[in-house]
Amino acid sequence: MEPSNSPGFSGARIELVQLERDHPGFNDPVYRERRNAIAAMAQRYREGDPLPNVEYDADEQTVWRTVWAELDAEHRRVACRAYRQACERYPFDHHTIPSFREVNARLQPMQGFSLLPVAGLVQPRVFLEELGARRFLATQYMRHGSTPLYTPEPDVVHEYIGHVPWLAHAELAELNHAFGQAALRADARRIEALIRVYWYTIEFGILQEEGALKVYGAGILSSFGEMRRFADAEHRTWDLEAMADDDFDPTDYQDHLYVAPSYARMREDLLAWLRA
Ligand SMILES: [Fe+2]
Repeated sequence: MEPSNSPGFSGARIELVQLERDHPGFNDPVYRERRNAIAAMAQRYREGDPLPNVEYDADEQTVWRTVWAELDAEHRRVACRAYRQACERYPFDHHTIPSFREVNARLQPMQGFSLLPVAGLVQPRVFLEELGARRFLATQYMRHGSTPLYTPEPDVVHEYIGHVPWLAHAELAELNHAFGQAALRADARRIEALIRVYWYTIEFGILQEEGALKVYGAGILSSFGEMRRFADAEHRTWDLEAMADDDFDPTDYQDHLYVAPSYARMREDLLAWLRA
């Protein structure tokens, strides 16, 4: 995702899809109808039902291939080692978008996580608490075909490329679960702190690895624009309490990021903070 790179949790709106005037699909009635149909499937879904299956059409498959053609090289350049290992453990077919059912059939046996469809953005508490049950609320729609490298909101590219490999990875799945467990015992103030820290780590985290800056955040790993820009953002010292007090802006490229001293420190410090 690019500007407005929200992680699939912030905001409260969206019953059926309302696109902003500057959304690439705003003037495309076919796209709007498609978005509404996919949102309606998610809205009708109730736990225990078979997952609604989106049959991605030829245009959406083309977007998926275009995205991969660009992201693959960027991942080799800037993704941290653990993410690249996670992608080896959970490789995507770069030519065909899998359905949620297909993703879950592979994902669930790994670390117990499943994707559940949502129509759009949900409240932070809802998103976080579901992590505590190893359920990851995710969008199914595809970005507009006119801008394959840009989306103003989380879409299936963000969920699959940014999050799914990590949910298949023992240590990052554990971290996501720990956010959920912390949310289950959190008051409103703590939820705010949790979602901010989630944003600056799981969504937009970068770290030091072998003398270079590398990316572990899903919002960067799934965004061509963010991967090209993160090196020029303001890089702040790793400080979870500072993140917890630092409101974020999901509507633009991130102008500052927090740099973990290493992958191990990121993981250890986060687990300790979440379990405190
Ligand atoms: Fe996300």
